[in-house]
Amino acid sequence: MSASKTFYIETFGCQMNAHDSEKVVGTLERQGYAQVVDEADAGLILYNTCSIRDKAEQKVFHRLNEYKKLQGEGKKFGVLGCVAQQEGEAIFDRAPYVSLVAGSASYRKLPEMLARLEAGETRITGLDDRQTDETFETEFTARTNPHRGYITIIEGCDKFCAYCVVPYTRGKERSRTSDSVIEEARRMADSGFTEVQFLGQNVNSYRDPSGKKSFAELLVAVGELPGMRRVRFTTSHPRDFTRDIVEAIDATPTLCDHVHLPVQSGSSQVLSLMAREYTREQYLERISWIKAARREISMTTDIIVGFPGETDADFEQTVTLLGEVGYDAVFAFQYSPRPNTPSLVMPDSTPPQMKSERLQILMDRQREIQRVSYGRHLGEVMEVMVEGYNPQRGQVTGRSSQNKTVNFTTGSLIQPAKGNYLPVRITQTFPNSLVGEAVNGGANAAASAIPCIQNEVEAAFIG
Ligand code: SAH
Ligand code: SF4
Ligand code: F3S
Repeated sequence: MSASKTFYIETFGCQMNAHDSEKVVGTLERQGYAQVVDEADAGLILYNTCSIRDKAEQKVFHRLNEYKKLQGEGKKFGVLGCVAQQEGEAIFDRAPYVSLVAGSASYRKLPEMLARLEAGETRITGLDDRQTDETFETEFTARTNPHRGYITIIEGCDKFCAYCVVPYTRGKERSRTSDSVIEEARRMADSGFTEVQFLGQNVNSYRDPSGKKSFAELLVAVGELPGMRRVRFTTSHPRDFTRDIVEAIDATPTLCDHVHLPVQSGSSQVLSLMAREYTREQYLERISWIKAARREISMTTDIIVGFPGETDADFEQTVTLLGEVGYDAVFAFQYSPRPNTPSLVMPDSTPPQMKSERLQILMDRQREIQRVSYGRHLGEVMEVMVEGYNPQRGQVTGRSSQNKTVNFTTGSLIQPAKGNYLPVRITQTFPNSLVGEAVNGGANAAASAIPCIQNEVEAAFIG
């Protein structure tokens, strides 16, 4: 294989990006490229980038600078993802050794762009003008985990929250047909997948272009496929969160008992400045639907601290919301001003020092809540999907249906294989994880003689 037909890809950002990369890898392999794990061995180096906060974007340019050292060996560089779409052709000026700049709404054109790259073109762009209605669907997805996999059901965003780059980097909101989603899930189940996770910037804003199924009906249809044991979905937008989603979870055991519902702020005043299109009360109404379910549904959220105009009293309302809801995890971020967004020009008199203090107060409060609330699982037996083995601690690691990390022992030297489901009794609880013992030593599990390597912990948010 010639060096030019090898590629290396590095991925930043949310699950959408991780899954896009799986589709890009499959597309490249289809075009005769082979993936390598060391950039030094690659003819083509790709970067799938994120620009949700300034730090994420800086990381990309920092890595691009490092790549400069590899120049002069006939290597080609491409920048994909949200920074590519946001910065466009300016990337060529900043990093002249880059020959390809393509945002996610252009990936369908990748085979054509690759052909131009091979023909020696040096400034190839695939940039979106928020016009495309197409989604990136391919049967050549190179999924990295054989047991659980992502399915993007809706791309883009039309919500335009005041602080957020996503509507500018991911194009307009567009859904796949329910038939095509069900077909993909069926193929995955037939080839051994037992867990799927629906993805979308706002997954529950899904609108079937064929008009056949609502989001909740699509969840149920996939949850009822033979062989399917777990169906997850992320991220839900509070404005589009409807009661039938809770009813679907209640009625369908394969739908996981977890909802990630980003609130961003506990103050209606700040929510209005953010253009979130719901109030604290409306958000709490949705939470009350979730709490009224027959199954206990775990709730997690995202919060932005220090949005322009946030007062001490606003912040206090976010802190009290934590106690009122009782989240199992909170992903809190300090507000980061982003290019092109309306909040960039909003007056902001809160000193950065005060913003980081607020973030710390919030995280300390939440940790205390979780320290106490995770205790409710003590003694419970829960089904855990095996994800790996941690040899240092001698523990198998896995996840519960509520998406909690469970570390457990089996009482056997031979570890259960990844992808197995085992009943585990919880013997100890921490603010972010549970510890337990497999019931019956995990006797029913298929064994793996070679201890598996622990998976990386995933980012639990999506952009
Ligand atoms: N579509 C989802 C989440 C989008 S992005 C939603 O609307 O809820 C993922 C998370 O990044 C957001 O929930 C938000 O908390 C955070 N985020 C987005 N833009 C940000 C910014 N400019 N500064 C800080 N955090 C931000
Ligand atoms: Fe869209 Fe979510 Fe960003 Fe709002 S925060 S613009 S809903 S991706
Ligand atoms: Fe980042 Fe784009 Fe996702 S900005 S969080 S990679 S949608």
